[in-house]
Amino acid sequence: MQEKTSLRWCRLALLPLCLATASTYAAPDPLAPTARWSAYTAGRASTPPMGWSSWNAFGTDIDEAKILGSAQRIVDSGLAAKGYRYVNIDDGWITRREIPSGRLIIRADRFPSSVTGGGSSFRPLTDKLHAMGLKAGIYSDLGRNTCSQAYSSDSTDLPKGSVLEREVGLYGRIDQDLALFFADWGFDFIKVDGCGLRAYGADSPKVRSGEYRALAPVLDLESVTRSDIPAVQAEFTQINAALKRHRPDGDFLLSLCVWGAADVRAWGKNYGNLSRTSDDIRPSWTRMLSNFDSAARRELYGHPGSWNDPDMLFIGAGDFDADHLVEAKSHFALWAMLNAPLMTGADLRKTPQPLMDIFGNADIIAVNQDPAGNQATLAYDTDDLQILVKPLASGQKAVAIFNRGFAPFDVDLTAEQLKLRKDAPITLTDLWTKTDATFTNETKLRVAPRETRIFRVQGTRALAQGVYLSEQPGSVNPAVDGVTTPQADPTIFRSSGGWTGTKGPGERPMYAGWGGARADSTPYGQTLRIAGTTYAAGIGVLANSRLEVRNAGYRRLSAQVGVDDSARDATHGVTFMVYGDGKLLAKSKPLRRGQRAQALNADVAGVKVVELVARSAAKDNEQLPVSWGDAALLSAGQTN
Ligand code: GLA
Repeated sequence: MQEKTSLRWCRLALLPLCLATASTYAAPDPLAPTARWSAYTAGRASTPPMGWSSWNAFGTDIDEAKILGSAQRIVDSGLAAKGYRYVNIDDGWITRREIPSGRLIIRADRFPSSVTGGGSSFRPLTDKLHAMGLKAGIYSDLGRNTCSQAYSSDSTDLPKGSVLEREVGLYGRIDQDLALFFADWGFDFIKVDGCGLRAYGADSPKVRSGEYRALAPVLDLESVTRSDIPAVQAEFTQINAALKRHRPDGDFLLSLCVWGAADVRAWGKNYGNLSRTSDDIRPSWTRMLSNFDSAARRELYGHPGSWNDPDMLFIGAGDFDADHLVEAKSHFALWAMLNAPLMTGADLRKTPQPLMDIFGNADIIAVNQDPAGNQATLAYDTDDLQILVKPLASGQKAVAIFNRGFAPFDVDLTAEQLKLRKDAPITLTDLWTKTDATFTNETKLRVAPRETRIFRVQGTRALAQGVYLSEQPGSVNPAVDGVTTPQADPTIFRSSGGWTGTKGPGERPMYAGWGGARADSTPYGQTLRIAGTTYAAGIGVLANSRLEVRNAGYRRLSAQVGVDDSARDATHGVTFMVYGDGKLLAKSKPLRRGQRAQALNADVAGVKVVELVARSAAKDNEQLPVSWGDAALLSAGQTN
């Protein structure tokens, strides 16, 4: 694939030499096995980060008292001891960039402790946070200017001075600013926003008025094709390198904030610890749904070290305040199941105890912080009701039953949905009430409007001798997911009234990447099916894809492979290959749509990284979803 045979000196007379040399010049084959796990593992994010951020409660109206006040409550309330550690200063802390030195100056009136011997430093504040046993986070932007500079109508909290002095973002300053944040000031976390690469085109009003310099937009929220993905990635590559230089002990977290744009779904996991999947959350039920939806079908794109981020918690305001405990508890349980960062955005100095109790639910925190790092998968999925299942490191599972609508629901929860044996007892422990109930095969549960019931589940695994790959999404990385023309995601709940209110046509479906790899589903949300046989378990992905699978000591990889019946392409064949640490272990014959599944079995004893490759000569991968039916890692020599 992708060989560049256009070597200029290739003339007919030299053809044999030319062909022999061509492979030397071949462009890298993205489907070639690499024997490595390529998702991001730098930094300190083996579990999703927990903490607090200033943005939801205060916007840019921040100061030292507000930040330290919430930090103190985190410690005093016991939340710190439960894992809430990061205290993050979001947008609004900068007054200007000093010219010509380029040093960023902190708003002295808001952060009095930053005025040190005539200089400006956050070191006194980060020292305080560290002395409290906490970590400190800071905010910047990929462009020259931040989001509030682009979108705030009130300039009170915005940087002051000349055009150049108000250029406070990372653009062209990555090394200098990261040295300041991490080496000088001692921060442990950085959120890097993307408005500077999106909102400062020559036509934007604030550029036309001369307020800011133009920077050609390379990020477009509504269009992948109008985004310059390599340009955005190039900046993150520089940020990664600067973090290594300026935080050599590796104790950092990098949070990408490009809202699902530029197909970041497919690559954010290679560049940072967190990647935002949507535009900003707001304290409304429907907006929470929208943010939830943006991450809920990305279960294979979140892993230890590289998590999906549907944005901060908005518990404490609007539809999630103390008068809406059902909604607040749902929001918390859902974020826990998604392995989302548990970042509270409330003014904790004033947060009522019932909401503090939600943040402090140790059993639900444990679900979120489970070391296996499996994001929940959707075992049942409708517009009204969803059942999410999250396998835990202990072998137990967590299940959440989410009623999105306005009527109570009597839900049948089945052993099958949990991938547990139906002839053995299953115990549900309610993580809110702490009560236990045992059933076999199936049970009925009442779920109130907007309620999420969440349980820890103990039962006997249906697959006794191993694990379905779809039961361990945290260990499966779609390194190449075959998506060549990402589509906007049609399954997002589109809430009204973002930055623009109700002007314009409304928010189009975005968060591009429909067609990405899925657990127990085709890339387009269908049941996995090969030649009429359905598979309740398996991985669905497009052709010309490569999945990396971490193997924790299993001995055999087994799958029923074939082109999914939902494929529109009936002519191209797909060859399925299993590699172990880079070595070919098993290979199918070329399979076309309608041909029966072929069993693949590979001895993976001692193998660290298994790679599953589906290769085809087809160019239009979107027409060719393939299924790794019943794909599983097994401990003994048996097949499933
Ligand atoms: C963007 C981000 C928010 C917040 C603001 C700050 O909108 O998505 O989370 O950081 O910028 O201006």
